[in-house]
Amino acid sequence: MAYKISVQKIEKSHIGEVDFKNLPFGKNFADHIFIADYSDGEWRDCRIVPFGDFTLHPATSALHYGQALFEGMKAERDAEGNPIIFRPEKNIKRLNVSAERMAMPTFPEDLFFEALDKLLTLDHDWVPKEPNSSLYIRPYMFATEKYVGIKVAENYRFAIFSSPVGAYYSQPVKVYVHDQYVRAFPGGVGYAKAAGNYGACMLPMRDVRKLGYDQNLWLDGIQHKYLQEIGTMNVFAIIDGVIITPSLDAGTILDGVTRDSIIRIAQDEGYVVQERDISIDEILHAHSKGTLEDMFGTGTAATIAPIRTFYYKGKDYELPPVEGREISNKLKERYFAIHSGKAEDVFGWIHTVPVNVLQN
Ligand code: COI
Repeated sequence: MAYKISVQKIEKSHIGEVDFKNLPFGKNFADHIFIADYSDGEWRDCRIVPFGDFTLHPATSALHYGQALFEGMKAERDAEGNPIIFRPEKNIKRLNVSAERMAMPTFPEDLFFEALDKLLTLDHDWVPKEPNSSLYIRPYMFATEKYVGIKVAENYRFAIFSSPVGAYYSQPVKVYVHDQYVRAFPGGVGYAKAAGNYGACMLPMRDVRKLGYDQNLWLDGIQHKYLQEIGTMNVFAIIDGVIITPSLDAGTILDGVTRDSIIRIAQDEGYVVQERDISIDEILHAHSKGTLEDMFGTGTAATIAPIRTFYYKGKDYELPPVEGREISNKLKERYFAIHSGKAEDVFGWIHTVPVNVLQN
């Protein structure tokens, strides 16, 4: 079904003000934003307008009770210069999984693609040409009902904006394995990309940053024993040549698009991949025996980020030099090649933004 998306173009682009050679993460914004509002059970008033502030009622319920969620995707350019988006169908499916968990309305997949194609056609100049850069695309949804009582809201806003970005982590990361705070537990919202999951991690993140670590590596919320995720990334370990990552079964970690891509590339390359419980004791044991070859995080923003150090109960554990990490370096190279349209898209992961979409 074709939706009616009205388009109001910006009068003068501000792209000239952006230094594409030195792109920080998430501080520059492309010219346009897509917005849709939900009322009486339907998404309405779909529009692309110049990027700018929202006006919000003080009782906007997302601000009080947290019905808010988001997604992250990236676009690069193919050899002909057309914008290509990596696996957006995974993101809209996950957005709708998060929406169900947060009792929010789902967003129609076909409308999502129509909005994305129109927005990216309009803002295609914002997809960086520079190496190690991309256009980060942020779809999100929040409750807009003006009501102070606690109930499932009846009004929502869905929007998509984009931001040209460089690396999220410019160095291998140091993570802090927490045995006090937890991020998620079975029955909770750990698998949803709900804004509150990130809000709950701010205090521990601020604490560990003061100690010189980049992020927390979360353990399970009940026994404080099994690895979950890093908050900005899923986590992988390589022990004796076997690639291991926590499984999705407990519903406590995000079903990461990069996580899934790395698993599938690794299997395609013939590596053994295990999605299973992995305890901190197993990691420590492998480290002491010298069989812990690698640990890394995966995420859309962070891509594949090698872990150089992890802290646990008073001690730092160093991991092997990144240059020698043959397996993850190989997986990373193939992931980047597919992501940027340089390698054959054998998995069918690339969405090419169709030209002429604005004329349709
Ligand atoms: C992403 O990787 O897209 C995220 O949502 C996490 C955040 C680090 C930006």
